[in-house]
Amino acid sequence: MTRLSQKVISWILLKGENLEDELYGFEKNMLLDVKPKSKVLEIGPGTGINLKYYPKNINWIGLESNPEMSKHIKIKIRKQGINANLLNGSAEKIPLKNNSIDYVISTLVLCSVNNPLNVVKEIKRVLKSSGKFLFIEHVADEKGTFRRVIQNMTNYTPWRFFSDGCHPNRETWKIIEHEFKNVEVKKYFLKNGGFFTWIVKPHIIGKAEK
Ligand SMILES: C[S@@+](CC[C@H](N)C(=O)[O-])C[C@H]1O[C@@H](n2cnc3c(N)ncnc32)[C@H](O)[C@@H]1O
Repeated sequence: MTRLSQKVISWILLKGENLEDELYGFEKNMLLDVKPKSKVLEIGPGTGINLKYYPKNINWIGLESNPEMSKHIKIKIRKQGINANLLNGSAEKIPLKNNSIDYVISTLVLCSVNNPLNVVKEIKRVLKSSGKFLFIEHVADEKGTFRRVIQNMTNYTPWRFFSDGCHPNRETWKIIEHEFKNVEVKKYFLKNGGFFTWIVKPHIIGKAEK
């Protein structure tokens, strides 16, 4: 059954698509330039906002745990004409074979999963040895900063409900660096976005190979 917070986040993400494109479009255009005909698994595709950034001739699999998102994703699949297979399930247990995927994509998802370490291990399992994990994630600010103090408190505020379980204080780069061999990761701060994005300004963007 769909939770109320899943309906709320689906609405928020849909309404925020223009802002999200403004904030991440440049980075996504560079990062999501995957090879033609490759098999791409995107975990937590949300409303399907990333579909327009891929080349059309790929085989895309979306694994989304919020059933409320599927209608939005299906509209984008039709619009982009991508060969797509949408699965409802969790990235904590990816229903795909070992070494079967060319690229796994995650944008703003590892903040929301229950156990990011399990998810990163699952990503590694399904990637081919030549495969790549491509990610953009918002992450914890440095310890001792005012923002980090606020990030640490969000679990006890309505943030948790309205973001459907997003944890802004995760040091996600540490998990990726621990699990993968060749990791290229860059930390950066969102430049725009105003008041509502202040808490999630610290980001990482990168690629990893197993
Ligand atoms: C903040 S949204 C980001 C959506 C999209 N990737 C984007 O960049 O706009 C996080 C998404 O991850 C999904 N998600 C959370 N936990 C998940 C899990 N364990 N497995 C698959 N998807 C998950 C949520 O339902 C939501 O669609």
